[in-house]
Amino acid sequence: MKIAVLPGDGIGKEIMTQAVRVLRRLGEDGLRMEIEEAPVGGTAYDLAGDPLPEATLKLAREADAILFGAVGDWKYDTLSRPKRPEQGLLGLRKALNLFANLRPAQVYEELASASSLRPDVVAGLDILIVRELTGDIYFGTPRGISTLPNGEREGYNTMRYAESEVRRIARVAFEAARKRGKRLCSVDKANVLETTELWRQVVIETGKEFPDVDLSHMYVDNCAMQLVRNPKQFDVIVTGNMFGDILSDEASMLTGSIGMLPSASLDEHNKGMYEPIHGSAPDIAGKGVANPLATILSAAMMLRYSLGKPEEAERIERAVRKVLREGYRTRDLETPGTRVVGTEEMGAAVVAAL
Ligand code: NAD
Ligand code: IPM
Ligand code: MN
Repeated sequence: MKIAVLPGDGIGKEIMTQAVRVLRRLGEDGLRMEIEEAPVGGTAYDLAGDPLPEATLKLAREADAILFGAVGDWKYDTLSRPKRPEQGLLGLRKALNLFANLRPAQVYEELASASSLRPDVVAGLDILIVRELTGDIYFGTPRGISTLPNGEREGYNTMRYAESEVRRIARVAFEAARKRGKRLCSVDKANVLETTELWRQVVIETGKEFPDVDLSHMYVDNCAMQLVRNPKQFDVIVTGNMFGDILSDEASMLTGSIGMLPSASLDEHNKGMYEPIHGSAPDIAGKGVANPLATILSAAMMLRYSLGKPEEAERIERAVRKVLREGYRTRDLETPGTRVVGTEEMGAAVVAAL
């Protein structure tokens, strides 16, 4: 098994070091894998003038799975858009056709009190956000900033979804719901936007193939509210690229911290890229305080979904549970009576628990 490791920028490097340690520990117990690292994002721009160098894309294509850290830094915000770090990530998703982004938000028992919501609201929460990842306003054209005849500047993007794009992500979500609580909530803004009016129609049509799954619909503004009012009403949520981006950051706080949420981005054949949902956190980069658990849990998802190693995946998840039970917390999860540790120490604790 060949794993492409793309640490990226900021805390990406720090958290990836810990995830690789965890994988290597499994290697000592016989998990056979080859790990190859390559630059992406701002780091790649600094080295090669391109946030997604040809060699990195080639490695990503050849690998059986990709583990991704995070990209971005404020210092790149004035570069032309194709040169910005985020383009490294968006380019990989598009080039590899990783249209299905699974973002599970589960509340570990020990962390119910770390959430900014009341423990009784979040305890036991287990939802899955299925986010479409290669379409929508992120990729729609025309897009740009131009000057109007009156000399004023105008910015524009295009929200668009072809029927086939909606159908394939809907199928992924229905299939996922079928394996869980059999409830799917499709989130849109069909009351205002035609793109999502079509989205809703296609999801309803696709639902006919899944009569055993209970389908409901919700407007995105209401969903944002319901996620903090009563998040346990949800089982699986399916939504477009932009709404899914926003709702998954919101959902992450139900679990205690954005540093807890892993993700899988899959293509048609379950080849995937695995990454924490958070970014490069420039505000804490280099300080050794970032939570590496989302990345470590992403490695577990990689073992389960792309590498056919469910037992190893479970071993990692059990180890994470164990260190939380033992009271280890990175700063983002701190609550009274817990033991605050840095990135490195958290990684070491998971390795020890393994
Ligand atoms: P962010 O997710 O990087 O950070 C938001 C907040 O959460 C910050 O206060 C940060 O310190 C905290 N945080 C994030 N991850 C954490 C962790 N593991 N442990 C502890 N705290 C953590 O989002 P942002 O600040 O809006 O964006 C920063 C940069 O990251 C931007 O350049 C953005 O484009 C990029 N970004 C990249 C990705 C990605 O690579 N997948 C995702 C989101 C943002
Ligand atoms: C994410 C990030 C990315 C996105 C950015 C960095 C391009 O926020 O993975 O959630 O918007 O998809
Ligand atoms: Mn995001």
